Amino acid sequence: MSKTHRIAPSILSADFARLGDEVKNVVAAGADWIHFDVMDNHYVPNLTFGPMICSALKPHAKTAAGTAVPIDVHLMVQPVDALAQAFADAGADFISFHPDATPHVHRSVQAIKARGCKAGLVFNPAAGLEVLDWMIEEIDLVLIMSVNPGFGGQSFIESALRKIEDARRRIDACGKDIRLEVDGGIKSDNIARVAAAGADTFVAGSAIFGKPDYKAVIDSMRGELAR
Ligand code: DX5
Ligand code: ZN
Repeated sequence: MSKTHRIAPSILSADFARLGDEVKNVVAAGADWIHFDVMDNHYVPNLTFGPMICSALKPHAKTAAGTAVPIDVHLMVQPVDALAQAFADAGADFISFHPDATPHVHRSVQAIKARGCKAGLVFNPAAGLEVLDWMIEEIDLVLIMSVNPGFGGQSFIESALRKIEDARRRIDACGKDIRLEVDGGIKSDNIARVAAAGADTFVAGSAIFGKPDYKAVIDSMRGELAR
């Protein structure tokens, strides 16, 4: 069962002066994906990095054996389409966006897929999942926010668990291979509860990059998931 879980360290909490090394180190520590938080100081009150940083980091996102580690781009930007295309060109593997940040969700998803990327939809703590009634067949990933987007290091919002359960039911009913990711406040001490609610992919920023030994944290998360 643990083999189906993915741990996606968010480089939002990495040392920005050493980003290439941080990506290499967290991959060596066992990261399954690299989570890349794109903020525009408009959709969210913070500003991070753009497609040029993504293309610069792409060569570092590979294991010692040379296997590419997927780059999971979480767009917290408005509008969505131009930047989504730029990230597709910059080597993103998954590109997710918030449905409320674009006027034509279906078109934005199709544009991402047309560039050969997997597409995801992201749901804020107060957002319902109704858009999935119409979009679930089209996407590869559902991302449930368990904090308000914009900053790392916030506390997990418990109501996300109910939303994860709801999303899990929808994904299972659809039958398609869709990852169910959760983002915000994930630590070794709550990851098992989040998995029990139905999540299979776990973003963790401050829990990993805030600690001296990334492998110890990732191993401890995997240990909790295997219990
Ligand atoms: C918040 C970001 C998260 C953030 C999570 O807007 O989407 O990915 O990095 O950070 P932690 O794990 O510290 O809550
Ligand atoms: Zn994120």
